[in-house]
Amino acid sequence: MDLSSVHRRSIEDREGFWAEQAALIDWHKPFDKVLDFTNPPFTRWFVGGETNLCHNAIDRHLATLGDRPALIFVSTETGEERILTFAELHREVMRMAAIMQAQGVGKGDRVLIYMPMIPEAAIAMYACARIGAIHSVVFGGFASHSLATRIDDATPKLIVSADAGSRAGKVVPYKPLLDEAIALAAHKPARVLLVDRKLAPMDLVAGRDLDYATLRAAHFDAQVPVTWLESNEISYTLYTSGTTGKPKGVQRDVGGYAVALAASMKYIYCGNPGETYFSSSDIGWVVGHSYIVYGPLLAGMATIMYEGTPVRPDAGILWQLVERFKVTVMFSAPTAIRVLKKQDPAWLTRYDTSSLRALFLAGEPLDEPTAKWIAEGLGRPVIDNYWQTETGWPILTVAHGIEKTPTRFGSPGMAMYGYDVRLLHEQTGEEVGVNEKGVVAIVPPLPPGCMQTVWRDDRRFVDTYFTSIPGRQVYSTFDWGIRDADGYYFILGRTDDVINVAGHRLGTREIEESISSHPAVAECAVVGVADQLKGQVAIAFAVLKDAGSVAAADQRLALEGEIMRTVDRQLGAVARPGRVHFVTVLPKTRSGKVLRRSIQALCEGRDPGDLTTIEDPAALDQVRSAVTPG
Ligand code: PRX
Repeated sequence: MDLSSVHRRSIEDREGFWAEQAALIDWHKPFDKVLDFTNPPFTRWFVGGETNLCHNAIDRHLATLGDRPALIFVSTETGEERILTFAELHREVMRMAAIMQAQGVGKGDRVLIYMPMIPEAAIAMYACARIGAIHSVVFGGFASHSLATRIDDATPKLIVSADAGSRAGKVVPYKPLLDEAIALAAHKPARVLLVDRKLAPMDLVAGRDLDYATLRAAHFDAQVPVTWLESNEISYTLYTSGTTGKPKGVQRDVGGYAVALAASMKYIYCGNPGETYFSSSDIGWVVGHSYIVYGPLLAGMATIMYEGTPVRPDAGILWQLVERFKVTVMFSAPTAIRVLKKQDPAWLTRYDTSSLRALFLAGEPLDEPTAKWIAEGLGRPVIDNYWQTETGWPILTVAHGIEKTPTRFGSPGMAMYGYDVRLLHEQTGEEVGVNEKGVVAIVPPLPPGCMQTVWRDDRRFVDTYFTSIPGRQVYSTFDWGIRDADGYYFILGRTDDVINVAGHRLGTREIEESISSHPAVAECAVVGVADQLKGQVAIAFAVLKDAGSVAAADQRLALEGEIMRTVDRQLGAVARPGRVHFVTVLPKTRSGKVLRRSIQALCEGRDPGDLTTIEDPAALDQVRSAVTPG
């Protein structure tokens, strides 16, 4: 098999190709139709088929792998370790499912999960999948305002949370932020289920808050059968940032997602039953959904859930875990590797990492020095893969389960089977030539596993993703790219206002809205600026209601700190800008549009580009002098 003929077939004979892949999972009832694309761009896969993600991840393996590890939990923060076999995980998931059902949660109800990286987080996700409830995991690093927005959009019946997490040795309380978020939100969940790790004091709200340990004991012997779901029913929503301040609920199906993940485990990640998969991501992100919680178990692999950083207790911890659990497939982000690069390279060879078939990196551009450093240091293959929350699995990479295509530094690889990827001219919509820059677009139907729609907002799904290229209804990734003569793609950055800080996707508009909520701020602009370690960092420019209030340097410093704390409190420290500069006017076009690209260029020491439409050229001088050292 070679990748290009597999790819060609997956586009020319979609139904045949995906019908074959569908055999990788169990179906309770076979599907009547592989693909329904009668209402473009909406796509329905495996119509009429009935299946279940939890069944395929857990129950299906009980007979063959029941006593083998399924979930390996390691916390270098608290020193805890727990290994759950498939059989033990099955029982825990049934207990959790019974607790949920006892609270009236059933098919189609939303359960919002706001949790640190502990087994109960994954157990809650599997339990939702088991009973057909829709989970919506919110990253634990987000604070009350972000959480409140998501509570209002998802309108959950139940929230599952915990007293606290821990990061770099510091306890991070969750419960107070959750209480604040529920107070802010218009929607009030009926029940909140809390895992008490005894890391932080926790007050339970009478009549609303439930203690997990007590209920677990009450449902200890629960038997909860799987609820079979039509393939196109909703498995989960996951919020992601875009151009507007309002996060989008990316909605996914059941059958298409299960098939897509199972296929990716076989062709891309090349994992086998009984082996161990280690993704250092977080369950709050799409990588955590696809490649901590679901993908590995669908393939009969154990998954490692790691609470900790790559450098504590020392910079060898990731490789120590690889050695101990004989990890065969590892997934991380370039940022984590850049952090390690600042440490002694001897850590890379201290442990036996020979079990590792490959290290996959994704989420942000993988720069060549970092890729080389880790590939040479470890002596294991490093594979870049490019995808999005929206797609759920790689768009571009190499598929060594199909063909041993060589990788190229700087390129995440080639178009994966199922994705009809084109590079299109932003204005004309025409395809660009070899080595010419275009918008990375996908001709629908999108393959299985990709988002079905924006939760409760079909209109926004179509308008956001399928109308930006003139003249044709194609899915825009909002990334620039080029392709060389051999079909390798190179990603050149976003076309919109999304930034990527340490692999975390953030919308500059959300940060701007948060900064603007500070009483001293009249308006502001946030841009993503290249950063050696984090890839990008957010830099803010604020116009104050009273410019005189920051006449002195210490006043400026104090207000900058206050604004940063506002962002911390509302959105979470992940969104905190690296700097807040004060200016008296923002560079805008004559029609009032902030020239974010010019600001960004100046911050990166580049030419600000075409300024013919600028209202007030002096505004750019202010930006320039703000960011020029000295
Ligand atoms: O800009 C691209 C960048 O991250 C965006 C998607 O982020 P998110 O929705 O958080 O999904 C991450 C899933 C791995 C993309 O639009 N991006 C992701 N992977 C790469 C990348 N940029 C360059 N190279 C990559 N491998």
